[in-house]
Amino acid sequence: MKKILIVSNRLPVMVKKTRDRLQFSASTGGLAVGLQSLEEIPNYFWLGWPGISTDQLTPPDQEEIERRLHAEKCSPVFFTEEEVNEFYHNFCNKTLWPLFHYFPLYTVYNDKSWSFYQQINRKYCEEVLQHVQPEDMIWIHDYQLMLLPQMLREKLPHHPIGFFLHIPFPNYEIYRLLPWRKELMEGVLGADLIGFHTYDYVRHFLGSVSRLLGLDHYLGEFITKDRVVKVDAYPMGIQYEKYAQASQKKKVQQAIRQIQEKVKDCRIIMSVDRLDYTKGIIERLEAFDWFLTQNPQYRGKVILILVAVPSRAYIDQYQDLKKRVEGLIGKINGTHGNFVWMPVWYLYRSLSFHKLVALYDAADIAWITPLRDGMNLIAKEFIASKKTKGVLILSETAGAASELGEAIVVNANDRDKMAAAIRAALEMPESEQSRRIQSMQERLRRYNITRWAQHFIQDVWDRGRAIEKYTVRKVSAAIQDRILDQYQESRNRLFLLDYDGTLRHYEDNPDQAYPDAELLDLITHLARNPANTLVIISGRDHPTLEQWLGRLNVHLVAEHGAWMKEAGKNWQILEMVNNDWKAMIRPVFELYADRTPGSSLEEKNFSLVWHTRRADPELARIRTQELKAAVSKLTENLEIRIFEGNKILEAKPSSIHKGRTTRLWLARQKWDFIMAAGDDYTDEDMFEALAESAITIKVGHDLSHARYFVDSSRDIRRILHRLTETNHAKHRPVSAPHTGSRTGQYL
Ligand code: UDP
Ligand code: G6P
Repeated sequence: MKKILIVSNRLPVMVKKTRDRLQFSASTGGLAVGLQSLEEIPNYFWLGWPGISTDQLTPPDQEEIERRLHAEKCSPVFFTEEEVNEFYHNFCNKTLWPLFHYFPLYTVYNDKSWSFYQQINRKYCEEVLQHVQPEDMIWIHDYQLMLLPQMLREKLPHHPIGFFLHIPFPNYEIYRLLPWRKELMEGVLGADLIGFHTYDYVRHFLGSVSRLLGLDHYLGEFITKDRVVKVDAYPMGIQYEKYAQASQKKKVQQAIRQIQEKVKDCRIIMSVDRLDYTKGIIERLEAFDWFLTQNPQYRGKVILILVAVPSRAYIDQYQDLKKRVEGLIGKINGTHGNFVWMPVWYLYRSLSFHKLVALYDAADIAWITPLRDGMNLIAKEFIASKKTKGVLILSETAGAASELGEAIVVNANDRDKMAAAIRAALEMPESEQSRRIQSMQERLRRYNITRWAQHFIQDVWDRGRAIEKYTVRKVSAAIQDRILDQYQESRNRLFLLDYDGTLRHYEDNPDQAYPDAELLDLITHLARNPANTLVIISGRDHPTLEQWLGRLNVHLVAEHGAWMKEAGKNWQILEMVNNDWKAMIRPVFELYADRTPGSSLEEKNFSLVWHTRRADPELARIRTQELKAAVSKLTENLEIRIFEGNKILEAKPSSIHKGRTTRLWLARQKWDFIMAAGDDYTDEDMFEALAESAITIKVGHDLSHARYFVDSSRDIRRILHRLTETNHAKHRPVSAPHTGSRTGQYL
């Protein structure tokens, strides 16, 4: 039976060893707690680190851990002390964690820990390979394992692999600071589906892929060399009913009563976080101090219960943070408190489930204001635990803010607004509280953790199908054989071939545009067969084509169909077009060329082309859309078409395109073999004009109207070479002739 193999660094169970005894406890942190509720997902198995180094364990300890974890559908991945230090403490939590949370000054770049990061990702890869079965799906989680998708992809080319990042993906200006930015990006792109909590993170990721790897996406889909990768937002939910019904449990009711007895008539503001500098605890305490100073009427009437869960205490910044938090609490309690009232109640520990939900239930306000947070599940758990009353104050920099719009949303650094939010929450009418709570509850109930996981998992399976569909279109050896058979069976063959990027290699020498000797030889050979009609259709101007190819026995079409020369005859203009439109549009193109460093303007006889290949890709994308909008407006009443191609924007008369020329050639004869090849958007008109039975081949991996694709122009030459080698066409009966209609299936 196929299973879902979950791989995350943190397992839901954590092991500690005290006085030679192993202790097993539940992990804290959104990933482990959230995914624990995957019980509703049938047949999963979880690989991860149990939180203890092998230096502390004897072989029997390791066996016991394995046994105990297996009972929980988990399997441990063990690290030595050095691996824990270099991989987990250093690279994960001193490099990736601070940088991805916009703390570049806390970020340490260290080659040694990077090599451990690679090593541990390889270790995970080997573990997965030991557990995976052919039908399984692999679901990898979080920043600790960003290289794992590609490592696995190399070993398991056809396996469905999903990757989910639980922390923010920063914008490019931050991400680019990482010396290993490209490696991590390529690592993640080994997955079929990449998920983030919010669209902002998706956008940042797409921007970085485009800038670093030059890959453009179409609706969140990248076509890499041999695969399609999808990127999307899946905001993680919670196990809603577990929190909604928790207050019915006796143990929880008891804990609620205990809290109420202690606080008496005071209103409760609660905040629960791992003690982490990203959580904004200092800023919150400062704002509370400010609130009490500004609102003396609330002294003795409100209590802040601040739970700080111990986390990563081996890192200097976390130790400093603890000192600062405790110092500030002392200061606030000393300044504002008295013999009968302490404004801040501080707990430095993790709470059991029933105590945590009792706190959610008893609190009037949840004050959750991280400086950055991938999602923040505490905010969602609080809302789910409430009945009709309660106010959530949430910072805009928590991923959860994009779903919980009815919260009081604040900037965690704005002390005045934070203090004002506390007051507004304390004074909010109950009817308003319940209106807001209910609408958030409805959303959280609907998109709970099970829906989230099912949605992601289903999308990973669907990606598998998308890839299958895509790979059948690649020109394989078998398809080449069939092309050859069809070639041999035919007598009237039409070849429509684009020049740049299709016949001419870009890869070898980008500055050499004219045809090399091998190409000239190939064209000559192919054209020598009287059954073959060769048309080279290019966007170049006709003097250039004349100079390069004019002496060959082929037909030439220049400027996408504005000019044509039949073999042995003179050039003739096919379209008489008025070029007055250029005067109106040129200044706009020039303005954009000036405003966008690295871009340039090319003027052809019938068109204007703005090239952005050398410009910053993100800026180019924005400017391209602006320019397109501006030119479209200007040419509203003219017959001008604006094309957005691969790093270009082109304006030209709508009557000139390769589709028109293609139809012209189709009408000339009854062809029994048609092959068309092209590499860019201008060739799409040609592909569209041809019947499905024609052999249409796109060079490259962008989405296309062509039936097939090849990786590079070399493959086109290889196919044409094979055809010239079989120039002794067999005169077998000819199949039904091609027409422009989309019927008939030859291959
Ligand atoms: N949590 C817990 N005990 C505690 C405090 C928190 O089990 O004493 C859980 C809490 O229920 C939540 C998770 O830890 O599910 C914290 O997740 P969140 O997304 O808020 O923050 P993260 O720790 O992942 O940064
Ligand atoms: C966040 C991360 C998790 C991590 C958790 C606790 O939620 O996204 O990957 O497990 O914090 O951190 P820890 O370092 O204790 O695993």
